[in-house]
This record gives sequence, C-alpha cells and structure tokens, in this order.
Amino acid sequence: MWGAMLAGKNILLIIGGGIAAYKVLELIRLLGKSGAKVVPVMTKAAEEFVTPLSVSALAGVPVRSALFNLEDEAEMGHIQLTRDADIVVVAPATADLIAKMANGLANDMASTLLIARNKQVLLAPAMNVAMWGNAATTRNVATLREDGCAFVGPDEGDMACGEFGYGRMAEPDAILAAIEARFSEGPLRGKRILVTSGPTHEPIDPVRYIANRSSGLQGAEIARALVALGAEVDFVTGPAEAARPEGANVIEVETALEMAAAVEAAGKQDVAIFAAAVADWRVANTSESKMKKSAGRAFPELELIENPDILATVSQRSTGRPSLVIGFAAETNDVIENATAKRLRKGCDWILANDVGGERAVMGGPDNQVVLISEKGAEKWPWMSKKQVAEALALRISEALT
Ligand code: CTP
Repeated sequence: MWGAMLAGKNILLIIGGGIAAYKVLELIRLLGKSGAKVVPVMTKAAEEFVTPLSVSALAGVPVRSALFNLEDEAEMGHIQLTRDADIVVVAPATADLIAKMANGLANDMASTLLIARNKQVLLAPAMNVAMWGNAATTRNVATLREDGCAFVGPDEGDMACGEFGYGRMAEPDAILAAIEARFSEGPLRGKRILVTSGPTHEPIDPVRYIANRSSGLQGAEIARALVALGAEVDFVTGPAEAARPEGANVIEVETALEMAAAVEAAGKQDVAIFAAAVADWRVANTSESKMKKSAGRAFPELELIENPDILATVSQRSTGRPSLVIGFAAETNDVIENATAKRLRKGCDWILANDVGGERAVMGGPDNQVVLISEKGAEKWPWMSKKQVAEALALRISEALT
C-alpha cells in the first residue's frame, strides 16, 4: 500500500459554521496522531458551534479568524497560509461556504484563503438534506468539481435538525482517509477515475421497484484498489449492499436516470469504469399512489421504456471522453463472442466480461471470473476473489496510463 503519508504535512483546515463542527475536533486529533500539522481557520459562524479555544488546544496553534489582523497582514498572512499548506480541507463545508467558493466571493478570512489558494482542496459538506438537494447547491458543487475540488461525503443519516437524508458530514476517519488518499504516492496519483457500481432501483409506485441481484461488491473493490494506488475516485453507486469504499468520493443514487445525471455532473475523468448493473428499462407509467389489487380487476400492466446507456454515452462523447473507458458485460452464453460485439457496439476500450449463468454465483457472490476484452483480443483471468480481480484491474489501468 502506498499511503498514509501525512507525517510532516501541513493541513490548512477551514472550519465552517455548522453543528458538524464538533466532529472536526476529532478530525484534528486524528490528523495530529498521523503526524500532520493542522493550521485551523474558523468562520465567525463556526465559533458559534465550537470554541476557538478547543480548536487551538487540539491543533496546538492559535486559530486564525479575522481577515484584518494587522500583525499577520503585515506579511500578507492569509496568502502565506495557503502557500505553506500542502492541502486545504474545508469541514464542515456549509452551503454558504460552497456557494462562496463556487462564485469566487472573498469577504472573510475563510473565503479569502479559498480564493487565494494554490493547493488542492478537499470539502466535507454538511447541511440539511433540503439544502444539499437544492438546485443552487447542486450547481455549485458541480462547478467546484469542474474546478478540480474533491469531496468526501456527505453521508445519509439522521440529522441534528431531526430530518433524515443526505447532508450529514462524513465521519472524521473517512475524512482522514480521503486526505491520506491525496498524498498517496501510488502510480495512479493525480488520476481522476469514475466508478459506477451496484444495482439501480426503478420505481413502480411509492413502495415497489424493479431491481436486480447486484451487491455492488465488485465495484466497491475496484474503487478501493484504485484509491490504494493513489487515484482520486468518484464512486457513483445505486442502492447496493456492499460497504462504501473508504477514501473515495461516494455519490449515492437510486435510479438509472439519477446515475446518468451523477456521471455527467462528476466532470472530467481520466478513466471511467462502469461496474453498475444498470436497469435497462424503467417504468413509464409509475403510479403516484400505491397500486391496489381488487378482486376481478385485471393485473396492472407496466409500460417499460429504455434507460439511457451510460457506458455508451460516455464512450461516444465527442469531447471530454476519458482516455480509458471500461465496461462490464454479464453474459449467460457465448461470453467472449457477445462481449466482443458489446465492446464495439458501446464504443468502450475494454470490457470485463463474466458468465453470470454458470454454476458458481457471480452476482451477489464473493468471487468472479472475468475475461478482459480489448482491441488486442480476449484474455481469460482465473477464478479470483472480487478483491483480487479489482487489484489486477487497477494495476492494468496504471500500466495502460503510463
Ligand atoms: N450500462 C450502462 N447503462 C445502461 C446499461 C448498461 O452504463 N443503461 C453498462 C453497465 O454498467 C455495464 C455495461 O453497460 O458496464 C454492460 O451492460 P449490459 O446490461 O450487460 O449490456 P446491454 O447493453 O444491456 O446488453 P444486453 O442486454 O444485450 O446484454
């Protein structure tokens, strides 16, 4: 593992004003333990949630907060802070801070540092579920991704406001893993890789949906293997059972349409891997209310329409196509022949094909046997754990990029 390289690193930690600020105390402790030096900056609002004294005590250096501190400003303190940093981490990244960054505002110490930065930025968003889902926040996050900012979280869960959903800040250990991943010296360092994973759920009515047996394990293992080699991974996952990969930027979706939108919003990538078992069809005549059975009535008929083919869309982009696009093919017969035709039809570079109709269960199981189809032909890999398949694929990718 190339990793955990935080000793001596200088982390400029910008603390926004949200209830999640209390979790940042634990993050500072974890960073200190891993040998990093934390320089904390708090917004005025952050000081309402945790005291500068607690932050300073844990970081071992005073908190920076006022923009015009004469002593510091004599040496252009705010510019110097970003020059000295190895990375800028924003946690909690509130809707307000995200909006300021996306629009280049600079009216306090935190936002001024962010616009004056010349280092990579990692944001850990935290806000109410409706604020995270708001169109303006979605636009601002897309802009920041486009600008090269990385994200960790938010997670789904109970919120301090009593609501449930996405918006809860990633846990401190997940933020630490995401920071460590940025300093990995693996061969995929600096590469941005998209991975889709898991099944999609296509609603029929408010309580029913069409799904498939994908556990999301192969996709999660691929993301982990890529993170371990130093890649920056955007992991777009449907409602999968498998644990989410640490150190990746996890984007949760439910339907194929949401997955397609998330892939578009993820921005430019060097490599894209489509491990998701996307539903080919969705229900056109979804019902707003629960469908009822009643004696003598005909069975409801589901009208299906085709979902967009995300892999084919990305493979056939005229601009901004990743230099390596990898698809999966789940086949039940004539695996090599079908997958070879699928590679050409979809326009991707490689296909990892597997036989899902054999005796050993691949979908939902721990192991996999794949055939790598590329322009050079078909190469059959032995039965391996999904983790080993992922590691072998990650190495292949790093070889192909160098
Ligand atoms: N895929 C996708 N978007 C879809 C359907 C599939 O991105 N709407 C991707 C999958 O993630 C996988 C690849 O396409 O990487 C193969 O999908 P598969 O369902 O096997 O292929 P199909 O095009 O559906 O062909 P067929 O049904 O004939 O097997």
